[in-house]
Formats: sequence, C-alpha cells, structure tokens
Amino acid sequence: MRRPIIAANWKMNNLSDEVIRFFNEFGDTAISLKDREVVIAPAFPYLKMAADLAKGKNITVAAQDVYPEMEGAFTGMVGAKMLNDLGVGAVIIGHSERRHIFKESLELIRKKVTFVQNNGWKLIFCIGETLPERESGKLYDIIKEQIYTAFDGNLWCDTEKAVIAYEPVWAIGTGVVATPEQAAEMHAFVRKIMKERYNREETVILYGGSVKPDNIKGLMSCADIDGALVGGASLKACSFKKLVLY
Ligand code: PGA
Repeated sequence: MRRPIIAANWKMNNLSDEVIRFFNEFGDTAISLKDREVVIAPAFPYLKMAADLAKGKNITVAAQDVYPEMEGAFTGMVGAKMLNDLGVGAVIIGHSERRHIFKESLELIRKKVTFVQNNGWKLIFCIGETLPERESGKLYDIIKEQIYTAFDGNLWCDTEKAVIAYEPVWAIGTGVVATPEQAAEMHAFVRKIMKERYNREETVILYGGSVKPDNIKGLMSCADIDGALVGGASLKACSFKKLVLY
C-alpha cells in the first residue's frame, strides 16, 4: 500500500520569522492525517528550529542534501552526525538544482544514496530531464541512467524508505507544469523499472515541478502519482495547507 507524501522543498528560502509563522499557521493540519505523510525540507540553518516546531505535529523534517561523511574536515558541508543532531528524518538527494547548478555527478549522487540508506533516513531521490533532453528523443534513456546509476546493486532500505520524485527540470519554478498525461506516462515508466529491475513495485513516486493548489488534484488523480514535491507553492502555510489537503 503506497502512502501519499506531500513534501515541501523550501530551497534557499524562509528565514527564522517565516519558519515560525509557517508552523504557527500550518498548526495541527497534519496531526489527524493518517492516509498521507507531510514532509518539510527547510534550509540547513533552520532544520533544528523546524524540527522543534514540528514535534508532535505528524510532520517529517527533511534535509535538502547531505555531505556523505559522518563529520570532519569538510569546510562548508553538513554531514550525518549534524543531521541526526538536528532531528532530520529524510534527505533529498539528486535534486536537479544540485545536479545542474552544483554539477553533482552520477557517481556522487550514488554515493549519497548509499549514505542516506546507511544512516537510516528516508531517501527522496529526484530524477528528471531538461527540455533539450526531452526533445532529443533520449528522454527515457536519461531517466533510466539516473535510476540505474543510483540504484543498481545499491538499494537495500525498506521500500517505504526509498521514495522517488520525478521532476522534469523544465517544469521546476517555471509555472509550466507537466500535463497529467506527461507525468502519468513517466511515472508508469519509472514504476515499471522499479518493479522489473528492483522488485519494488510499491515505491512511492512523487511528481514535482510547478505543483500548485489548483493543479494538484489533476496530478494526484493519476494512478502512478503518489504525491508531490513542491517548491514555490510550499513556502507559505496557506498554500501548503491546500496542497496537503488536496
Ligand atoms: P517548484 O519546485 O514547485 O517551485 O517548481 C519544485 C522542486 O524543485 O522541487
């Protein structure tokens, strides 16, 4: 049984007062929701604050990335001991902004996927193609490569702990959402891979890219879409509440 997840990726947004206001306004929205999971990923400096504010509220606090080491001489990085100290329950890996802006290689992403599983956090593994990749006709090869390089011989956590987020790069922050048909087609493709190659048909697969309160229903009505990873529309509680209660 796949439990839907509605996840907020705040990226490099929301300062202390905004984090506090968000949790005040979001309040107990998630407490009674048994049929879905709510995840919030603030920026590193606000993880502790968010984890404290989320206590008892049925919300999982996620990190947007992790450096795959426990601790040590890695200037500017945040590793496992710190995330555990801050109360993190999930980690996003492979977001397209990490892949493209920070040039994260497939190899580094695989290393991070390994690391997240070894440390027992829930993994939210992002995949997705750019517009030129989609138009090149190699769309499915690109997605396959992202999945295979991360998961081949490298997937051992419980099925509910390994979540995939399909996020077409051309839909992220652009207001151009994939049509439910485009999303459904890719989700079905990913589900087939998870079933045939990894024997994990029950993997939760989220859609991400310009998800808004007015389009979430259409997306969630697709058989293989199990939730959403939301950037812009997750920053304010009033909007995120609508998404969570889709
Ligand atoms: P967006 O971002 O909802 O602002 O398009 C989604 C994401 O990058 O996860």
